[in-house]
Amino acid sequence: MPIWGVVNQKGGVGKTTTAVNLAAGLAQRGFRTLLIDGDPQGNATTGLGIDKHAAEATLYEVLAEVVDDPDADTPIRRAIVPVSEHLGVVPSTLDLAGVEAILMNAVGKELILRDALEPIRSEFDWIIIDSPPSLGLLTINILAAVESVLVPMQCEFYALEGLSQLLKTVEMVRRRINPGLSVKKVLLTMHDPRNRLTQQVQQEVTDYFGEKVSKVVIPRNVRLSEAPSFGEAAVVRFPTSKGAGAYFEFVDEVMAECAAR
Ligand SMILES: Nc1ncnc2c1ncn2[C@@H]1O[C@H](COP(=O)(O)OP(=O)(O)OP(=O)(O)O)[C@@H](O)[C@H]1O
Ligand SMILES: [Mg+2]
Repeated sequence: MPIWGVVNQKGGVGKTTTAVNLAAGLAQRGFRTLLIDGDPQGNATTGLGIDKHAAEATLYEVLAEVVDDPDADTPIRRAIVPVSEHLGVVPSTLDLAGVEAILMNAVGKELILRDALEPIRSEFDWIIIDSPPSLGLLTINILAAVESVLVPMQCEFYALEGLSQLLKTVEMVRRRINPGLSVKKVLLTMHDPRNRLTQQVQQEVTDYFGEKVSKVVIPRNVRLSEAPSFGEAAVVRFPTSKGAGAYFEFVDEVMAECAAR
């Protein structure tokens, strides 16, 4: 059962848009999918129309409870909000920003999310985790809990900046905590074919990552940025838009590769 983290410490590169549409796309294909909002900004939560205050528990409470009592009766189950037939979401609010202070003093502070997920892993075909634009303890917890990292990169001049730090962190977590961890895919987002720079960036990213770069490129498409205001994934709200079409292609690519393994 694949469990993927959508990670890039750069802000605004399309992590949440990718996490939401990948998760919703997989759910539409019939996979039991869990999307975990691992970012205190809570953009995946609000983007899917979840009322932050209506959730019975958020990721913050789940993690705090696991820190407190490792034998707690699967607090994560209470936190899952059903969004559609096959999609569940563990929501987050700004509270989550305070979780690092709690994690910091826990024994096995990098492994709290992994522990929290353990009891429900087998209940889902896919788990996708959105992450914050930083490489702090929360992101380390995400890297320790997943088997694969998906790195969305915006097609812009500074796309590769900060990348070595990200890869170094992934490598560190792999060596010390999570031996199965790898960067599985790089997805180019907000692609604008009219911009000449775009091709150059695409080439540089491909030189660097080779096969890991997805054949699918996500175009800059206004429907992708509008969908969250309707509280729905673009693949659900605007399924025939160019942006949603690209995410469907990406879902199919990911599915095909995981099936081939
Ligand atoms: N392909 C796209 N076309 C047009 N707009 C996009 C596209 N992808 C993302 N956006 C918009 O760009 C902004 C940043 O995207 P997103 O929130 O997915 O990035 P992020 O990496 O999650 O940001 P953060 O680091 O703040 O969490 C959002 O307003 C989003 O709606
Ligand atoms: Mg985000």
